Amino acid sequence: MKKVAILGAGTMGKGIAIDFSTGGYDVNLFDSFEAARENALPAIERDLGVMAEMGVFPEEKAKESLKNITIYDNMIEAAKDADFVIEVVPEILELKQDIFAELDKNCKPDAIFASNTSSLKLGDMMAKLSDERKKRTLICHYYNPAHLLPIVELSCYGNMPEDIFWQVYDMYEAIGKKPVKVDKDVPGMVANRIQCAIYREVYSLMENEVAAPDQIEKAMMYGMCFRYATTGQREITDMGGIDVWSKVADNIWPTLESRTTSCPYMTDRVAAGEYGFKSGKGFYSYESEEEKKEIIANFQKRLMIQLVASKKYVDHKK
Ligand SMILES: NC(=O)c1ccc[n+]([C@@H]2O[C@H](COP(=O)([O-])OP(=O)(O)OC[C@H]3O[C@@H](n4cnc5c(N)ncnc54)[C@H](O)[C@@H]3O)[C@@H](O)[C@H]2O)c1
Repeated sequence: MKKVAILGAGTMGKGIAIDFSTGGYDVNLFDSFEAARENALPAIERDLGVMAEMGVFPEEKAKESLKNITIYDNMIEAAKDADFVIEVVPEILELKQDIFAELDKNCKPDAIFASNTSSLKLGDMMAKLSDERKKRTLICHYYNPAHLLPIVELSCYGNMPEDIFWQVYDMYEAIGKKPVKVDKDVPGMVANRIQCAIYREVYSLMENEVAAPDQIEKAMMYGMCFRYATTGQREITDMGGIDVWSKVADNIWPTLESRTTSCPYMTDRVAAGEYGFKSGKGFYSYESEEEKKEIIANFQKRLMIQLVASKKYVDHKK
């Protein structure tokens, strides 16, 4: 695969464009809105510049990568010669179905289609595709910011022959991502399910005032998250003793939060219009757009430091 078309140059699309362009791919980036098209390259150039500044790659690579990206105002022109086409448009089923149908008629027969959906079902999104194209379509779910979080979850739900799946998997590994093969179609794939379990308990601990919110977050960041960044659950349990972890589960699991709808800690704030960044107040208050930009920039710089540090990790193949 040589040429990648990315449809949608919003939050995620721009990050995915950085991933593929730094991986040496020709990237055709399409957006149906002029403002998004105009904003895309300057924003990507800024991000690439900061990545170089932070030591993720040399400055020369940032410059070269930018040259790999071409902006398109016509979807078919952007996608017709591509080997891999990923849609990153808003989470609207009909929109994604129609885009895939249009692509099917106009793209190369062997082009692979992908969706970055967070919540839609692959089967539903493929409803208007030919049977042949269904064999070449999958979900490639990124985490935000896509250019800094190594994970991309890939659906392997049986519609796609395994050799095509592994072609996609290998492509992601080659550009430095850490692809996760997901074998069953469950809501949230894998990473979001784990994250949901964590924040259900986190907000429950806060609601029940077991510790102050900042102390609970400290426990996450400097306890289990610090360790999980370097290895997985099974090795940690082996080192601690499966017998011990099993006993701990017996003692603590019955007391864990198990609610099946969102919690008052969130819903009360939603009812008060406190959404976070977008309303200027959430768990914290935000005075200005400048302040929010600075918070995001600092967050991304911390992720870049982690990205550089993680290059020194030994890959766990267990
Ligand atoms: N934001 C996240 O944290 C996140 C994480 C993982 C997955 N996703 C998924 O990624 C997809 C995109 O999310 P986002 O956050 O980047 O949204 P976004 O609103 O930032 O970007 C969507 C872009 O698509 C463009 N667009 C709209 N209609 C289009 C069309 N017909 N053709 C081409 N472009 C079109 C918009 O102009 C916009 O630039 C969604 O499916 C979302 O669920 C988002």
